[in-house]
Amino acid sequence: MWCLELLLPLLLIIKDASCQWNVWVPRDISAMTNSCVVIPCTFMYPSGIRPYRGIHGIWYFGQPYPQLFPPVVFKTRTDIVHESYKGRTKLLGDLHQRNCTLLINNIGTEHSGRYYFRADLGGANMYTFPDFAELKVLDQPNIDVPEEIVSDENLELTCYAPDNCPDMTPEIQWMYTDYLPNPEFSSDYLEESNTAVLSSTMTFTPRPMHNGQLLGCRVYYPNTTLVYERLISLDVKYPPRSVWVNVSSEVMEGSSVMLHCEVDSNPAPRISWMFGDQELLWDTASNVSLSLDDVTPAQEGIYTCIGDNGYGIMNTSLYLAVKYPPREPTVNESMTILEGTSLALHCSTQGSPAPTLTWLKDGELVGTITADELSVLEIVEITPQGDGQYRCLAENEHGRASSSLNITVECECFTVLQPFEIHIGLNKCVIVALNSAASLYRCPVLLEESKCTVVREGVQCVCMATGNPEPTIEFYLPDFNVTINETDGRYNFYTHTDGHTSQA
Ligand SMILES: *[C@@H]1O[C@H](CO)[C@@H](O)[C@H](O)[C@H]1NC(C)=O
Ligand SMILES: *[C@@H]1O[C@H](CO)[C@@H](O)[C@H](O)[C@H]1NC(C)=O
Ligand SMILES: *[C@@H]1O[C@H](CO)[C@@H](O)[C@H](O)[C@H]1NC(C)=O
Ligand SMILES: *[C@@H]1O[C@H](CO)[C@@H](O)[C@H](O)[C@H]1NC(C)=O
Ligand SMILES: *[C@@H]1O[C@H](CO)[C@@H](O)[C@H](O)[C@H]1NC(C)=O
Ligand SMILES: *[C@@H]1O[C@H](CO)[C@@H](O)[C@H](O)[C@H]1NC(C)=O
Ligand SMILES: *[C@@H]1O[C@H](CO)[C@@H](O)[C@H](O)[C@H]1NC(C)=O
Ligand SMILES: *[C@@H]1O[C@H](CO)[C@@H](O)[C@H](O)[C@H]1NC(C)=O
Ligand SMILES: *[C@@H]1O[C@H](CO)[C@@H](O)[C@H](O)[C@H]1NC(C)=O
Repeated sequence: MWCLELLLPLLLIIKDASCQWNVWVPRDISAMTNSCVVIPCTFMYPSGIRPYRGIHGIWYFGQPYPQLFPPVVFKTRTDIVHESYKGRTKLLGDLHQRNCTLLINNIGTEHSGRYYFRADLGGANMYTFPDFAELKVLDQPNIDVPEEIVSDENLELTCYAPDNCPDMTPEIQWMYTDYLPNPEFSSDYLEESNTAVLSSTMTFTPRPMHNGQLLGCRVYYPNTTLVYERLISLDVKYPPRSVWVNVSSEVMEGSSVMLHCEVDSNPAPRISWMFGDQELLWDTASNVSLSLDDVTPAQEGIYTCIGDNGYGIMNTSLYLAVKYPPREPTVNESMTILEGTSLALHCSTQGSPAPTLTWLKDGELVGTITADELSVLEIVEITPQGDGQYRCLAENEHGRASSSLNITVECECFTVLQPFEIHIGLNKCVIVALNSAASLYRCPVLLEESKCTVVREGVQCVCMATGNPEPTIEFYLPDFNVTINETDGRYNFYTHTDGHTSQA
């Protein structure tokens, strides 16, 4: 009962336990080019058939006979086979033992395809089995690479070599592994459906530096010249490991600046440039340049470049300083104040770097020089001499600007006006400066240059006074009860005025 014995492993598939036409071949089998392959095969035929004049068999390539008369791979009755199989094929099995095992030598990639067996038991008892073995002829070993390789995570790469050629046993070697950190190797032998595959698995932990590196697997048959190699390039995903930006820098207001950001990651990150909470620019690239034109002081601050590629996120910042000359200072309005009042004049401005502030009165330095945003000039109990133009000057290395105000000191002249008396001999000369609207404006002030001297012709008196409006001057001689304001008989009188100062 041959038939039942053979059926035992197939009981689940074949419902009818009695013998039918049936073949058993591996569905898939592979081999390396120029080596050989043995396709294991057993078959059965209905138990009622008595083979007539022996059992014959034919192997076909591509499709089952008689569809389009496929190429003959091997035939027991004659040695007529298709050109591409001449001298290459041999039946290893004994057909009387229902063993149709086929050897193909020196195979090439053109021999890849489906192989069908046809049993010929004589007379009408011929049958082409619809089951086939699909042969893959490889010119390179296969490497199993995970869909995603992530840095710092354990990686397993497996290289496969078919082992279906009885006289030749392959060996597997990994190539270009010198730079890998402690790779571990293990081999395995997989037998399934009477076909065998040898495999070698390499295990290591890739680092970002291994991205783009070449790795290879070499399959060879010892004592032959047959060598097969496959190279792969590692695509190691890693989070951003550096985000490079320019060093902090300074720019002049109104100029342009280019800020560059470069991120090292795989895959390329989404790079964004942030200014505070505001995203100014983003792109998916390894580097992004942010260009700022006509820069204003409002654009001074921290710029942050963020790289995010899904595996991690990283950022780096820089400070952009915007330089500009001082703005025109803000000072108090011009004012008229009462003599003796204390007051504070304020001057403020902006500039970068911070400007120094200086107060000048009628061109002369007053107060202290400050480097603050605000300079306050304190004037305690202002005197008529405090009257004048006050200018605040702001300066930095990029320029200067100033603003001014006028202070008019108001006084009540009758209390202030001191006659200037000079005694020459018995005569007393009193010089009086008057000013018609004295109570509204600046009181006349007699200047030190005023004096009387004895000359050959008599007495010469000079009087100088300032005030606003300019004072008129008259000389008064109390002993004679005479007031002189113009040339009159015995007195020569000259006046000269420049708007503020009168001289007589
Ligand atoms: C068929 O023949 C081959 C070659 O002689 C042999 O290795 C194999 O074991 C045989 N198969 C069975 C099922 O006997
Ligand atoms: C290769 O050839 C050498 C010398 O002929 C022999 O010792 C060795 O066993 C052979 N190796 C294989 C795998 O056939
Ligand atoms: C930033 O770096 C890039 C590249 O090195 C350079 O071209 C650019 O001028 C730099 N920008 C500044 C503001 O330094
Ligand atoms: C910046 O990225 C572009 C492509 O986005 C690339 O061609 C260029 O080489 C990169 N520049 C640098 C300095 O990496
Ligand atoms: C930049 O990174 C630091 C720490 O990694 C984080 O605290 C900060 O919030 C990040 N800044 C931005 C703008 O994402
Ligand atoms: C000058 O202006 C400042 C600020 O506006 C003010 O506080 C100060 O009182 C003003 N000074 C005078 C004398 O008006
Ligand atoms: C201050 O007075 C001068 C001279 O009288 C005048 O030229 C100038 O415009 C005045 N300045 C202000 C701010 O009023
Ligand atoms: C000076 O003259 C005025 C009027 O012209 C008169 O009132 C006054 O008494 C005179 N004084 C003397 C000292 O003569
Ligand atoms: C001189 O004073 C007299 C009396 O006050 C006046 O009438 C006259 O106009 C004055 N002359 C001049 C030139 O001011």
